[in-house]
Amino acid sequence: MLNIIGLGLWSEKGLTIEGLLTCQKSDEIYIETYTSFWPGSIKKLEDLIGKKIKKLERFDLEDNLIEILEKAKSKEISILVPGDPLVATTHANILVEAKRNGIKVRIIHNSSIYSAVCETGLHLYKFGATVTIPFPERTKNQKPESLFQKIIENKKRDLHTLCLLDIYEKEKKYMSPNEGLEILLESRCVSKEDEVVVFCRGGSKTKSIFFDKIKNLLKIDFGSPPYVIIIPGKLHFTEKEFLDLFKSTRIK
Ligand SMILES: C[S@@+](CC[C@H](N)C(=O)[O-])C[C@H]1O[C@@H](n2cnc3c(N)ncnc32)[C@H](O)[C@@H]1O
Repeated sequence: MLNIIGLGLWSEKGLTIEGLLTCQKSDEIYIETYTSFWPGSIKKLEDLIGKKIKKLERFDLEDNLIEILEKAKSKEISILVPGDPLVATTHANILVEAKRNGIKVRIIHNSSIYSAVCETGLHLYKFGATVTIPFPERTKNQKPESLFQKIIENKKRDLHTLCLLDIYEKEKKYMSPNEGLEILLESRCVSKEDEVVVFCRGGSKTKSIFFDKIKNLLKIDFGSPPYVIIIPGKLHFTEKEFLDLFKSTRIK
């Protein structure tokens, strides 16, 4: 049996009761934190569950998955994943491989950045394709044209674009909204006069939301990660009313 368990958006306290109970009856527990910034403590999570947790690297889940699947044939194995485990991760491959190997999989969902963005007042059903803004070195300094194209397509259809920001988890390097905005400006899919949203540390006590022209947002220090940028499409008046609450103000 393989359980894939969401950790939610913030600390170890975000684990659901279902996730906690499942971990407590598991033979082995693993965690991956490379798909998102997860500010919780593995030690505190171990204390909460009462069992040891082994950290997985991308290699373990993408190239060496068979090792975990072999264990799951005879043991109850749990893998903890930041946010909701199948949202903006590559973990669907685990489900496919588990099915091919006749292993039962259970997904324990949790909160996700995809639903947390509703705190900005933007209507979820008006979001188009999501993009991830990559660090320039990841694309060998080539502009990620397909990403810009998606933003343009969303705009044409009056849809909002959720822009996730790249991370190098091992190096503890997280793209700031300022870097992300500069990359978008270079592509000319936005202009300095456009109003966009920056949503920081969703789910935490220090969450903050900003709505302003890009030229003003570029001057802001957004504090510690994680963050997303949202490029609004056509705003419904209720969305506009809500967003205006965040104009040049930091809501704690
Ligand atoms: C690849 S996605 C993984 C999403 C995760 N599985 C989930 O369901 O929330 C990771 C990106 O989402 C954004 N993100 C994740 N958690 C966030 C949070 N609490 N507040 C703001 N942005 C967040 C960051 O841009 C981060 O690089």
